[in-house]
Amino acid sequence: MSRRNIVAGNWKMNLDRAKATELAQAVAGRHAEAGSVELVLCPPSVYLAAVGSAVGLAANGTSPSGVAVGAQNMHDKASGAFTGEIAPPMLVDIGCRFVILGHSERRTLFGETDATVNTKTKAALAAGLTPIVCVGETLEEREGNRTQAVVTTQINGSLAGLSPSDLEKIVVAYEPVWAIGTGKVATPQQAQEVHALIRGLLASLASPAVAAKVRIQYGGSVKPDNAADLAAQPDIDGALVGGASLKADDFLGIAKAFA
Ligand code: 13P
Repeated sequence: MSRRNIVAGNWKMNLDRAKATELAQAVAGRHAEAGSVELVLCPPSVYLAAVGSAVGLAANGTSPSGVAVGAQNMHDKASGAFTGEIAPPMLVDIGCRFVILGHSERRTLFGETDATVNTKTKAALAAGLTPIVCVGETLEEREGNRTQAVVTTQINGSLAGLSPSDLEKIVVAYEPVWAIGTGKVATPQQAQEVHALIRGLLASLASPAVAAKVRIQYGGSVKPDNAADLAAQPDIDGALVGGASLKADDFLGIAKAFA
């Protein structure tokens, strides 16, 4: 079973227009360093169009370098009176092909639940976007031996009711909350254990064949010097990178490890 590895940069609420453009141009210009790895840049929404232009995005979301663009969040409705929100078709309209959903910062700081993530995941798929659905336990949950239970609840809740053909299109990101922005990366064994659990859950939701197609990224303090050991694990199919995605050298160094 060959899955194409996917490395995405979650820029969170960082950079300005000039720096976002410069970083996107650098990644697109050096994309060959990542070999066959799929590269996705997820800037703040206001810079999606600028980043799209910088990588030469066509209307259908493809670019000469193959670098794709994704959003960090979206609303679940296609239009309407939702001040301050962004609709899935609007993301498609400006060439986005991906959207991060249910990131732990959205869950803890903005009250998103598995039900919210489930609704948004269905809306993203209906609009033709590929959702990157994030799950992961807190330190307290890990230390209380609740990792498996927490991730199981998050996966089953966030992906409830998806058809097998929709399930095989999604990307899952396992991001242990204690590893995000802390410099404390999960060991390859810790990550692999949860990735295997997630693949098993996907098999139960659909089938082993569908589960074998789904790309599962690891996220949380991924750096160029720890990426190769993570990439060597059988169920780790890429990375969702925060801090290290803000520098072209580091982001491409991580991508290279997954090539
Ligand atoms: P860091 O790579 O900065 O730990 O962030 C991970 C993350 O939250 C990506 O979505």
